[in-house]
Amino acid sequence: MPTGPIFMSKDLKGTNPKGTSKDSEKLRVGLQVPVPKDNGPAGAAVPSPMQGGHLHYTGEVGPIVYTQSPVLENVPIMLTHPGIWDALGLALTPFTDSVAAKDPLTLVESDIQPFQEAWVSMVDADTGEPVLDSHSGKPITFVGANPVDVPNCSNCHSNETGNGDKYTLYKQEKAFWKALGASDWIANLKATSVSILEMHDDNNGTDFLKNYKPGGRDTMNRIGRDPILCQKCHADNVIGVLQSKSFKDPKTGKEKVIMPLTQAIHGVHLKATPMPDSQGRTGACQGCHPVHRQDGSMEGYPITQDGKNAYAASDNRDAAGGCFVGRDVHSNPGKDTDGVETPEHLNAIGEWLQENVSQIGNGGNGKGLWCTNCHTQLSRELYQRDALTNAFKQEGKTLRNKSLTEIAKGIGVSMKELEEMMDPKVILDGKGHDTPGKSRILEIWEQDRLVPDIAVIALKGDDPMINKDED
Ligand code: HEC
Ligand code: HEC
Ligand code: HEC
Ligand code: HEC
Repeated sequence: MPTGPIFMSKDLKGTNPKGTSKDSEKLRVGLQVPVPKDNGPAGAAVPSPMQGGHLHYTGEVGPIVYTQSPVLENVPIMLTHPGIWDALGLALTPFTDSVAAKDPLTLVESDIQPFQEAWVSMVDADTGEPVLDSHSGKPITFVGANPVDVPNCSNCHSNETGNGDKYTLYKQEKAFWKALGASDWIANLKATSVSILEMHDDNNGTDFLKNYKPGGRDTMNRIGRDPILCQKCHADNVIGVLQSKSFKDPKTGKEKVIMPLTQAIHGVHLKATPMPDSQGRTGACQGCHPVHRQDGSMEGYPITQDGKNAYAASDNRDAAGGCFVGRDVHSNPGKDTDGVETPEHLNAIGEWLQENVSQIGNGGNGKGLWCTNCHTQLSRELYQRDALTNAFKQEGKTLRNKSLTEIAKGIGVSMKELEEMMDPKVILDGKGHDTPGKSRILEIWEQDRLVPDIAVIALKGDDPMINKDED
């Protein structure tokens, strides 16, 4: 939840009656604008629907907040769309009310229910009475699902897969919670936090565990300090922290900007634990982008209890579903038989992927696309070269509607390299790691690929627009 870094002026609509950017006039989410229990960051505008609240109309401009960071000051961030009714950032958990009422220490992984039902009813603004449907005579209600899940960091960080034999604090932490009657899953989650902090301290010179007493009996604050907010140091645009802190690099003694959170977390793991399947496609994505199922079944779960790819000898795409597998038309093996038969509208890249990877929509009886066919360096290269006047109709300048030969030429790679970029594979070294400089998967999160013009949000003349506070 954004606290501190993001501020709003008067309300979430970006209203700023005094036209000021003075720090003293800012209202920060979580500070001057309190976030009540069970409310999202926009809690002030939307009373918790769990307590009979109502949706909020986003108006003509949509809900807007501004960043507060030294260089990228006052960058407006639109949180959802204008002209819709929303309940922004609801504080949800993936547990039903009855499960959540249990002693939290006893929760188990199969208690997770990642799709929370949301019901919305239409009521008369003045009387609060339900509005009746003129055809059925029944109250007008709608239902939808909110996805929310827990990642599987603990499958590696509460055992030797993540810790090796070098990091050991997790063992005592696990034993502490087990002795209090915690389930294995909860004890492993607790142990994981300590493992991650211990490794971070050791590798990067932080002192997160300075006050941690492994033998201590405290259950409320085991690490003896405020919670660690990764974004205090690592940039993360999803909560409006557009600029990382810098640190003194112990190797060179020079000030260096800390890498963004996404680069740090993906870079380290996709290199150290690439988890290829028999096709060479990484299964690591589903270790962290979690894949629990609504029915609680853990059968066919893609990451094993000890952090291995359950599909190492077969195909990642055989997993029994999950957040993203099979969801999109291009990755849905049932797309030609599900009664909808949605057309794919393929360009040259799409046709290549259909022929060489997905084999759906062409009678090939294939398994669809994998994460790394869409989340590629190629998609960023294409994006970088787009100068669209109408993105929906693909009008303006773009490489996307060109032939593969023209696309390869346009981004300056050979045909062979283009093929590697469309279907990137793990390239294992002797230690079972993926290989930087060779792997097209790692390329996505590499420093020298984070080209500056992807980060320019607005221009002033030919230069990036720089916003500064009046104070
Ligand atoms: C498939 C196993 C696996 C999973 C899942 C996993 N990790 Fe890791 N993690 C590792 C390994 C192995 C290392 C050590 C990597 C190295 O030193 O090269 C590590 C290292 C780390 C580090 C220290 C990095 C550094 O260099 O300081 C952090 C922080 C971390 N993991 C956080 C997480 C978080 C958060 C999650 C879940 C969102 C997660 N990990 C999920 C295996 C895993
Ligand atoms: C007090 C500042 C600070 C905080 C807070 C912080 N980090 Fe870091 N982190 C660093 C520094 C400094 C480095 C080394 C940076 C570099 O080389 O760019 C680093 C490096 C990392 C790396 C290793 C990157 C690599 O390629 O070696 C990972 C992963 C990481 N941090 C994850 C996290 C996570 C997850 C959190 C929140 C739990 C977090 N960090 C909180 C300062 C911080
Ligand atoms: C070690 C855990 C871990 C692994 C492995 C992992 N992710 Fe992530 N991913 C995260 C976290 C944590 C975030 C949120 C980062 C943030 O807020 O900056 C994230 C964010 C993302 C995003 C949002 C945009 C961005 O870059 O932050 C995308 C897209 C994504 N991951 C795709 C993937 C794909 C594809 C793979 C496999 C190739 C993958 N991830 C593997 C932990 C992981
Ligand atoms: C067919 C192409 C395709 C496949 C396959 C695919 N994605 Fe995505 N993914 C997208 C697109 C496009 C978006 C952006 C959607 C949007 O704008 O809301 C996205 C969004 C995401 C996000 C959210 C990013 C954000 O900023 O909110 C994550 C995380 C993610 N994908 C991870 C994955 C993982 C993990 C897999 C594999 C298990 C996967 N995706 C498979 C195309 C794909």
